Amino acid sequence: MSLDIVSFQDTVWDFYHGHGRHNLPWRRPGANGRFDPYKILVSEIMLQQTQVARAIPKYEQFLTLFPTATSLAATPLGDVLRAWSGLGYNRRAKYLWQAAQQLSDSFPTDIAALVQLPGIGPNTAGAVLAYSFNQPVVFIETNIRTVFIHHFFNDQIDVTDKSVLEIVATTLDIEHPREWYWALMDYGAFLKQTVGNLNQQSKHYAKQSKFEGSKRQIRGEVLRQLAVSSQTVDELAKNIVDNRLRTVIEDLLSEGMIHQSHDKLEL
Ligand code: ADE
Repeated sequence: MSLDIVSFQDTVWDFYHGHGRHNLPWRRPGANGRFDPYKILVSEIMLQQTQVARAIPKYEQFLTLFPTATSLAATPLGDVLRAWSGLGYNRRAKYLWQAAQQLSDSFPTDIAALVQLPGIGPNTAGAVLAYSFNQPVVFIETNIRTVFIHHFFNDQIDVTDKSVLEIVATTLDIEHPREWYWALMDYGAFLKQTVGNLNQQSKHYAKQSKFEGSKRQIRGEVLRQLAVSSQTVDELAKNIVDNRLRTVIEDLLSEGMIHQSHDKLEL
């Protein structure tokens, strides 16, 4: 192995041993010493678009309510959306709930099978396999991208994930993939705070759209209100004054996120 790779690995491991986030709830194995892939999946779906500090309490609450895929699958979607409330990007809750319907019997152990589940792309699938089963799979996410751009693509623009993934593969610690990816994520989160978001150099960088004044905000508000009690369209329109409200309601109805019962909308 070339010296560059070894010195890169040393940098990442040194950071992790000194400053890693060793206390995250999804990094604690169960009583049997194993990681429950369902719980890892819940954490990864939450962490796709929600920051660690906000995800922690929600993760704990969610798993208290739905400790297994079977219990999640048996719960009406409305109750799952209520538990998700506050995390945003609520479609994720529906995907997770749909995935749970298929996970009760067995959990897939390869990427091809995992990406068949709703809401799970190759990178989420890779993370789930590395963290659940310690599989030496290759994947990328925002913090990991930051690390590799910083070390290997400094000053370049339009860096493709394909070229980053090649280096993820050559530098992967195949003996300790689970911890290696934890270390990369923590080091990447640290770099973001210190050198800034290098994902702007990525060809695939998509900034999270602004929440304030967005359709996403109205969606969230509709779901938040219906989580408390069902309402007619007219009642909602009094509480949420925005000319996009009706489109948002139609979208939510057609996605199956909300339902109409008599004249009321409900989760
Ligand atoms: N630990 C495991 N997965 C993680 C993620 N996606 N973000 C931060 N820490 C993690």
